[in-house]
Amino acid sequence: MNKTILYLWFLLQFIIAGTITAQDNLSALLPMPLKAEQRDGRSFELNNVGEIECQMSDSLFIINELTNIVKYRTDIELPVKGGNKIIIKEESSALPESYKIDISKKRITIEGSRSGIYYALKTFDQILLGDVTNTTNGKVAQIYIEDAPRYTHRAVMLDPARHFLPIEDIKFFIDQIAKYKYNILQLHLTDDQGWRIEIKSHPALTNIGAFRNPNGGNKGPDNGYYTQKQLKELVNYAAARNIEIIPELDIPGHSVAILAAYPHLGCSFRQNEKKEVGHTTNMMICAHSEEAYCVYEDIIREVAQIFPSKFIHLGGDEAAVNENWAKCDDCKAMMKKAGYAKPSDLMNIFFGRMLDIVHKNNKKAILWCELDNMWPPANNYLFPYPKDVTLVTWRNALTPKCIELTRINGHNLIMAPGEHTYLDYPQWHNDLPEFNNWGMPITTIEQTYKLDPSYNLPAEEQQHIQGVMATMWAEAIKDINRVNYMFFPRGLAIAEAGWSIMQQRSWEGFKKRLMPNLNDLMRSGVSFRVPFEISPRR
Ligand code: ACM
Ligand code: ZN
Repeated sequence: MNKTILYLWFLLQFIIAGTITAQDNLSALLPMPLKAEQRDGRSFELNNVGEIECQMSDSLFIINELTNIVKYRTDIELPVKGGNKIIIKEESSALPESYKIDISKKRITIEGSRSGIYYALKTFDQILLGDVTNTTNGKVAQIYIEDAPRYTHRAVMLDPARHFLPIEDIKFFIDQIAKYKYNILQLHLTDDQGWRIEIKSHPALTNIGAFRNPNGGNKGPDNGYYTQKQLKELVNYAAARNIEIIPELDIPGHSVAILAAYPHLGCSFRQNEKKEVGHTTNMMICAHSEEAYCVYEDIIREVAQIFPSKFIHLGGDEAAVNENWAKCDDCKAMMKKAGYAKPSDLMNIFFGRMLDIVHKNNKKAILWCELDNMWPPANNYLFPYPKDVTLVTWRNALTPKCIELTRINGHNLIMAPGEHTYLDYPQWHNDLPEFNNWGMPITTIEQTYKLDPSYNLPAEEQQHIQGVMATMWAEAIKDINRVNYMFFPRGLAIAEAGWSIMQQRSWEGFKKRLMPNLNDLMRSGVSFRVPFEISPRR
């Protein structure tokens, strides 16, 4: 090659590299930040980082996260030597979860609240993931990012009540969702299929309620529970990753596991019916049972001590009032005494008492929002939920009404509309789960992505919406690989719905940014479903 050709060849390489870099360094950002821009100028060289300056209460954890990210992406072990510097500054005045990343030629500055700095590192990781050309050379383009979440409540609900998930699997799941800036993990700990939390004052709850398959030993998805020690450790593990764990104890329905241990907490006319853990029935806790309130006083006290979250979720969904309270002599007498016309009105007394216990333990309650199904009655949108309860909208098609009623009645609301966020629904025709006994509609990733948690309402009509929740109901989901198959990649669409403002979101942009993240999930050993239907080549 003569000199001119050599020069032109280098120029061409430079242009190609520049083009790829210009396209790629923001290409794996998911959820999309509030503001992200690339600047001109020479890249920052990780190989020349002589110093990481970090002053925060848990500097060691944060520096460890950063050095792990750099090692994983570039094989460089920081610090090396040279004049480049990474500065991490915790700002007490920064909004929770907000951060800034400023990458210049010689310096990377990361600023924010503690949680914001954690998220800045996740974003930095995605910069390295997306900018393949630069990253393989140990370089980072000059980038400026300012970021903060749209919503404060960005949750995933796991359901180890139906199929037990070992604690190590939950930690793995936490690691994955933390990358996408989820900040709440709701654990559905009790249901017909299992009682999964140790309650020291009532060991029968787990001795009986945690064993769906009494001859099945401790292996497999049917049997098992978490000790309080394990849960406290899980709380700390999650907290370091900016994830708060909210416990859910489902009452008064979904209660076969507790009724198997304590049959007398149900309505007396059903005392002789078989109560077998794992056999879903419509049995409920009796609204008249003083002992039920006493047992839950103990349970809620212990649960409140394990989980520092200000919330306890008490279910309240799918309560078959007509098959229980309406036919129970004690409940009927109670109704009469209170002057109630319908058995569902007993929910006022039942949850009034349960919420007193929650408040006594300095917690607030969350409940699934029921409108016209069981409580209150059809076509009569009375709204008797006690004040101070946060509600979760979930039933397909009822969300607009639920948004309106919660606003009028002064409740905070979390968005888990089945049409978008029920990730136990199949993702494609003839796909898993292999049994579908409640007619789950196909919920494609595009359908999931269409969620705007505000439902496009005027600002004054959506102030009470706190965020989103993806639900991973596990009647048909037996282990963490299946959880991951159902959750990923749709869970990334919900992560973006919870974090990013609508102006920063687009389906086309999301699809492009998804691709490097799928690659990365595979490298992490996450058994996601390949969304072949959105491939540009199909
Ligand atoms: C629910 O899906 N039963 C809240
Ligand atoms: Zn009763």
